[in-house]
Amino acid sequence: MRALFLGGAGMIGSAAAARAVASGADVTIVTRSAPARPVADGVRQLRADVRDPEALKAALGDEEFDAVVNWVGFTPDDVSAHPGLFTGRTGQYVFISTCSVFGRPVPNLPITESSPRRQPVFGYARDKIACELLLEDAYRSAGFPLTIVRPFHTYDATVIPVLAGWTAIDRMRAGRPVVVHGDGTSLWSLTHSRDFARAFTPLLSLDHAVGESVNVVSGDILTWDQIHLTLAGAAGVREPLLRHRSSESIAEYVPGWGEVLEHDFRHSMLFDTSKLRALVPGFAPQVSFAEGARQSLAHYDAHPELKSVDQELSRAFDALLEGSAPQQATGGREGSAA
Ligand SMILES: NC(=O)c1ccc[n+]([C@@H]2O[C@H](COP(=O)([O-])OP(=O)(O)OC[C@H]3O[C@@H](n4cnc5c(N)ncnc54)[C@H](OP(=O)(O)O)[C@@H]3O)[C@@H](O)[C@H]2O)c1
Repeated sequence: MRALFLGGAGMIGSAAAARAVASGADVTIVTRSAPARPVADGVRQLRADVRDPEALKAALGDEEFDAVVNWVGFTPDDVSAHPGLFTGRTGQYVFISTCSVFGRPVPNLPITESSPRRQPVFGYARDKIACELLLEDAYRSAGFPLTIVRPFHTYDATVIPVLAGWTAIDRMRAGRPVVVHGDGTSLWSLTHSRDFARAFTPLLSLDHAVGESVNVVSGDILTWDQIHLTLAGAAGVREPLLRHRSSESIAEYVPGWGEVLEHDFRHSMLFDTSKLRALVPGFAPQVSFAEGARQSLAHYDAHPELKSVDQELSRAFDALLEGSAPQQATGGREGSAA
């Protein structure tokens, strides 16, 4: 099986490439710069900006593939040339979208592939929906062999999957309170990149997946308090001080989080994984969040250079908790799904 990964050197793509090669596929990745992460042995590398159709055409020559996977399509402009470029030279084109396309509040839980897609405000999700619609049109009108794959919040050892990232861990270890949105009880799901790769690889070159969309998620159910408590446990903090504040209050102090909290993180997200399990019989996630959190903490503790504390964010948390005037931290979004 010959697979082409456009931008397949990132957090999720590199795990999928490693898994695909291990399962016997012939994998080529196209990146615009030397990958920051290790590339698995056996993965062939090409260099081109995949958003430049001419550069991509030149890099690919007349090669044909069984599956092309686009890991870096974010706007219709990024993908509009792909039906023309890949029809007739790949058996399947996989668009990596996101479960953030599903409208919030979700009218019915659990979320399935047929839950309504709607996001007029949150630009990342709105643009992913536009990409899905454009590519679906090519599938319907011209037989473009599309499969839409939607990850949800996916992490590996190199990330702390909460918005405050390492700043949250640093505060916990220092005995300082950490802000959690809402009551800490809304439900969320986290998927380790290796579990994503286990579920994803069998979808490549799978005839039954063409014309389908599949949410590739672990199906874990975690509250935001559980996520923070699990991270605290992995960080060796027995009694972390979690302080709950509404998403609106947090956004007053950290405006950069306003959109992602309002349109994404504050909503409960529960997934029905039946379709994934039907297409990939036997798939079961193997990395619990407790294990994944231990791996992340071990990775950070082994790489002190990663332990960057956002002092502006930390001051905004203090101001929020003291009730003093907002300082308006920009708020990096380290562990964000987007
Ligand atoms: N992580 C999550 O929780 C999550 C959740 C839902 C959906 N997703 C989706 O998953 C996809 C991201 O996958 P990932 O985590 O593997 O990606 P990633 O970590 O963002 O890495 C993308 C890779 O592609 C390269 N790249 C970016 N733009 C390029 C271009 N124009 N031409 C060539 N190479 C380019 C990057 O290199 P540079 O260093 O040059 O940028 C990097 O090596 C996205 O489509 C995202 O929307 C992720």
